[in-house]
Amino acid sequence: MRQKVVLITGANGEIGHGLIQHLAENTDANIVALDVTPLDKCLRPLCSTYIVGDILDQMLLGRLVVEHEIATIYHLASILSTKAEYNPETAHRINVEGTLNLLRLAVEQSQWQGQSVKFIYPSSIAAYGIPTLKDKSEAGSAKEEDWNYPTTMYGCNKLYCEHLGRYYNSHYRQLAADGGGSQTLDFRAIRFPGLISAETVPTGGTSDYGPEMLHAAAKGEEYNCFVRPDTTLPFMVMADAVKALIFLEAVPKNRLSQYVYNVTSFSLSAQEIFDIVLKAFPQANIHFAVDDNRQKIVDSWPECVDDSAARQDWDWQPDYNCERAFNKYLIPAIRRRYE
Ligand code: SER
Repeated sequence: MRQKVVLITGANGEIGHGLIQHLAENTDANIVALDVTPLDKCLRPLCSTYIVGDILDQMLLGRLVVEHEIATIYHLASILSTKAEYNPETAHRINVEGTLNLLRLAVEQSQWQGQSVKFIYPSSIAAYGIPTLKDKSEAGSAKEEDWNYPTTMYGCNKLYCEHLGRYYNSHYRQLAADGGGSQTLDFRAIRFPGLISAETVPTGGTSDYGPEMLHAAAKGEEYNCFVRPDTTLPFMVMADAVKALIFLEAVPKNRLSQYVYNVTSFSLSAQEIFDIVLKAFPQANIHFAVDDNRQKIVDSWPECVDDSAARQDWDWQPDYNCERAFNKYLIPAIRRRYE
């Protein structure tokens, strides 16, 4: 008998760390972790299997389904927004072709198993592209369908993969004699704001100035914040990001009115983050040194997003507002980490 498992791609990344710890502590899920780098030693005992491999490797994905019955896929592997701009075509291959490989695996598995594999996909505020600062300040809370003109390769990839997920969920091989087969996958996506974790620092994102400021201050390292003090984005702590993934995975399909949901916790300007960090770490050596190109990317993302659909359809609400996020979680945990 093949073992029923939860497959997590990009397992070694920021969200992977939080999600694997949560699933191991709170469920009896058999976790199969996949990443291009060897899995962090602290995560290994929490997984049934960990595999070093590439989501572009079709043979590897083929072997995965020989050995495991995949019930849910958390497809977290991705090249983030800043990194993707240094080699957009490679980013496209990983972000889009990699996702396509997993969607195909999921739809085939759904047909074999006679029940839908759940495909949980983290999208991003990078899927938005607001043309001017004036528009951004007047935009208010962006709904999922607003401003869908991303300016980064990563944002284009995320927006397109949201559509691919909808296609594989509802229209896959629609002209086949059997209408593409009755059993399709169950695609659900969350658009995350900038994420902040006490345990890990992100690699290659453009909302990273928030977490980087905090971690640098705690480590006693100098940090140049690459956006203007007035730059505002929505943020969320990792515990809430994991909560959102778990909630969306668990909700009955008939409660979902859309494929893609915004979630958010609080919006802060870089100056506000700076003030909070300086209060907690008065020795912090942080300056503002604007990188015009990265600034443009952040300027195209909304100041806040409307997550009322998630609140209504699957009872989403964050556990951490700004005060609780920094004072009860981030600052104490980051202090402990670098002491
Ligand atoms: N935080 C991510 C980034 O900056 C967006 O999803 O790339």
